[in-house]
Amino acid sequence: MNEQRPTVLIVGAGLGGVMLGALLEKANVPYTILERASTVRSLGAALSIGGTLLVLFEQLQILSEFVSLAKCYTQSTVGNESGETLSTTNYVPLQTLTGYRGYIITRPAFYNLLLKQIPAHKIHFGKRILNVNEVKDDEDNDKVRIQASDGTIYQGDILVGADGAYSAVRQRLYERLKLEGTLPKSDEEDLPFTCTCLVGQTEPLDLEEFPELKDPESLMITTMGTEKPYSWVVFGTGNGSVCFMVLHHLDRTTSRAAQEQRFRNSENSEWGPHAAQSMCDETRDFSIPIGIGKKTLGDLYDRTPKDLFSKVMLEEKVFTTWFSGRTVLLGDG
Ligand SMILES: Cc1cc2nc3c(=O)[nH]c(=O)nc-3n(C[C@H](O)[C@H](O)[C@H](O)COP(=O)(O)OP(=O)(O)OC[C@H]3O[C@@H](n4cnc5c(N)ncnc54)[C@H](O)[C@@H]3O)c2cc1C
Ligand SMILES: *[C@@H]1O[C@H](CO)[C@@H](O)[C@H](O)[C@H]1NC(C)=O
Ligand SMILES: *[C@@H]1O[C@H](CO)[C@@H](O)[C@H](O)[C@H]1NC(C)=O
Repeated sequence: MNEQRPTVLIVGAGLGGVMLGALLEKANVPYTILERASTVRSLGAALSIGGTLLVLFEQLQILSEFVSLAKCYTQSTVGNESGETLSTTNYVPLQTLTGYRGYIITRPAFYNLLLKQIPAHKIHFGKRILNVNEVKDDEDNDKVRIQASDGTIYQGDILVGADGAYSAVRQRLYERLKLEGTLPKSDEEDLPFTCTCLVGQTEPLDLEEFPELKDPESLMITTMGTEKPYSWVVFGTGNGSVCFMVLHHLDRTTSRAAQEQRFRNSENSEWGPHAAQSMCDETRDFSIPIGIGKKTLGDLYDRTPKDLFSKVMLEEKVFTTWFSGRTVLLGDG
């Protein structure tokens, strides 16, 4: 049976790569996931997940496990620093429409749930993909062949670039299309980013000190900074912990400085711990007047394990070209 099914090579074991792997596993389509990192690091804040994905989780038979890790929500609030509510959004109509409630889940819990669906022998760590070639096999069938930095070669029928915002698969694809003269100009331009972002998750908090977290519904509170280019969001999780996401909205000058700093640091979409620390220092006095008892961001940072902070950027760009030949791009790529 498998002989007639295409073999899928997935580059990148981020959220996109493991989600696709989980679906192919269920559909009994052969695949291999190749990930550059030697291990997975559990980072990030929280994700809001609703009907579009939950219908898939139901088919994957992981819906009840997902729900046990998550916390439902029906409302989000935006306020300002003096504690005035600027807007609230009610998600009940949307949830009625899709037939599923909305949930907040921490990014690490979500990632681990998806990763668990992939048998260990189908995912290979420490495989940084460098080269991509479209080739013919001995029977003259079209194939795609990729090579990792350790020299190993993998061959398959479909190549999925799920390797993030700075996707190597996308870069190889675009180099080829550029030579052929078929790459749109807009796809050649750099990724702009308008926001840098500090994300993290506290340890489970004392519910007497944070009684709002006893509510079976999750909090989702955005505070807009007064005369500062920041906004910050807090979410309650299924764990009694709080996830935070602090956004620094960049202007033309700060954006250029951030870009230069980032490219000095690494080629990943993540800065090192030092950058996260300085963003913590800059923002720890910011207040959270609505929702969790008039705390500051610093109150949350002090209850967050050091290795659960990360500073990331929010790139914003939609590439026009997302497939060609045997290659297709997925997720942030
Ligand atoms: C640290 C971090 C925290 C985040 N926190 C949040 C959050 O709290 N809430 C939210 O809504 N969004 C968050 N985001 C954004 C969201 O997680 C991304 O939109 C999502 O992860 C994109 O998934 P992806 O699979 O497309 O790419 P990624 O998750 O970036 O995964 C790409 C994977 O490909 C691997 N890779 C890259 N190049 C190669 C190569 N050449 N060969 C092999 N493998 C390669 C990378 O190591 C990585 O594991 C966060 C992003 C990051 C990086
Ligand atoms: C908060 O919003 C209220 C109502 O719009 C406004 O009167 C107040 O000045 C705002 N406070 C700050 C600090 O922006
Ligand atoms: C709950 O908190 C613990 C300790 O901080 C963490 O290890 C675990 O992954 C968390 N679970 C969820 C669902 O976030």
